[in-house]
Amino acid sequence: MIEQTLAIIKPDGVARNLIGEIIHRIETSGLKIQAMKMVQLSVKQAEGFYAVHRDKPFFPSLTSFMSEGPVVLMILSGENAIQKWRDLMGATDPAKAVPGTIRREFGQSIERNTTHGSDAPETAAFETAYFFGGMERL
Ligand code: CMP
Repeated sequence: MIEQTLAIIKPDGVARNLIGEIIHRIETSGLKIQAMKMVQLSVKQAEGFYAVHRDKPFFPSLTSFMSEGPVVLMILSGENAIQKWRDLMGATDPAKAVPGTIRREFGQSIERNTTHGSDAPETAAFETAYFFGGMERL
């Protein structure tokens, strides 16, 4: 099934000049970058994006981290795009991610894990609409 998913290169990835490396992995995987922009989120914008985690102990630290510097936001599209991007990223905790994945190679901690990806069609719909307008999601 052709899907769309939201990908984020987090502040730790942008700060360490990993944008090109990560985009190269996306493009060679067969996924298409349908929309892309670089922005610095406010704490409020990060809180809205991660609202499902608002009761978690790591929420204040996560939203502060996500607004400490610019992020790259992308809509990726393709066959099984949600799972494909998750496979490229690896597990949330870099220490548990499969060797060769983005988070295993570049992640610094469970929080500073370099990339984000939607985990299901419903979250992909919310997350792509949170950052992109209708014309970019066509
Ligand atoms: P992400 O896939 O963007 O989804 C939620 C984020 O919370 C996660 O990646 C990490 O950056 C961050 N996080 C920090 N601590 C934890 C934790 N203990 N479990 C899951 N996610 C965490």
